Amino acid sequence: MILGDQLRFRAIEKEDLPKFVKWLNDPEIKYGLSMVVPLSLAEEENWFENLLKRSSYERPMAIEIQPDPQVDEWIFVGNCGLIQIDWQNRSSEVGIFIGEKGYWNQGFGTNAMRLIIKHGFENLNLHRIWLRVFETNQQAMRSYEKAGFTQEGIFRQAQYLDGKYVDVIIMSMLKSEWQEQ
Ligand SMILES: CC(C)(COP(=O)(O)OP(=O)(O)OC[C@H]1O[C@@H](n2cnc3c(N)ncnc32)[C@H](O)[C@@H]1OP(=O)(O)O)[C@@H](O)C(=O)NCCC(=O)NCCS
Repeated sequence: MILGDQLRFRAIEKEDLPKFVKWLNDPEIKYGLSMVVPLSLAEEENWFENLLKRSSYERPMAIEIQPDPQVDEWIFVGNCGLIQIDWQNRSSEVGIFIGEKGYWNQGFGTNAMRLIIKHGFENLNLHRIWLRVFETNQQAMRSYEKAGFTQEGIFRQAQYLDGKYVDVIIMSMLKSEWQEQ
């Protein structure tokens, strides 16, 4: 378990898979993740089996939130994780989604991102964490800016989304920038 502020990360369990299938078939959620075909439970089970073959550092983690700090009730809302860690250069991509849309725009996405960054820099001694986001995903970009990411580049028209090409924005954070915050 990795503990944050009204938020914690735990390992993903097989019982979580039906929720992932529900969330990842929701058009509003899929939109930011470039998933264009419907996802089945069998595919998700296959994904889960393959997770166990990955390095434990690169397994996504379940995000649980505690909406009321006075109440010991934790709600599973999504996942986040470090992707293909480059150990030589101490750099990693990061990915996140909050599937429970009723909890969007309440700061949980930003707090989850802050916690995975802290984990990457302070537990894994990474030097750089970066991400990709579609230019059309203003909510995600705003959340990443709040977490401290800086835009560093643009892959022009790199994603075909809803019948048109959109730019893919690259954002990153260095450990030194994290320490200055
Ligand atoms: C991206 C995501 C993780 C953000 O989570 P969240 O809990 O909503 O994030 P936060 O509440 O911390 O921040 C959202 C910010 O975006 C703002 N926002 C919401 N819609 C917006 C829009 N259309 N344009 C601009 N800003 C917007 C909110 O007001 C908030 O900013 P504020 O705190 O300054 O008011 C979540 O929306 C999500 O999982 N989306 C679907 C999957 C996805 O797109 N993942 C990212 C792929 S790169």
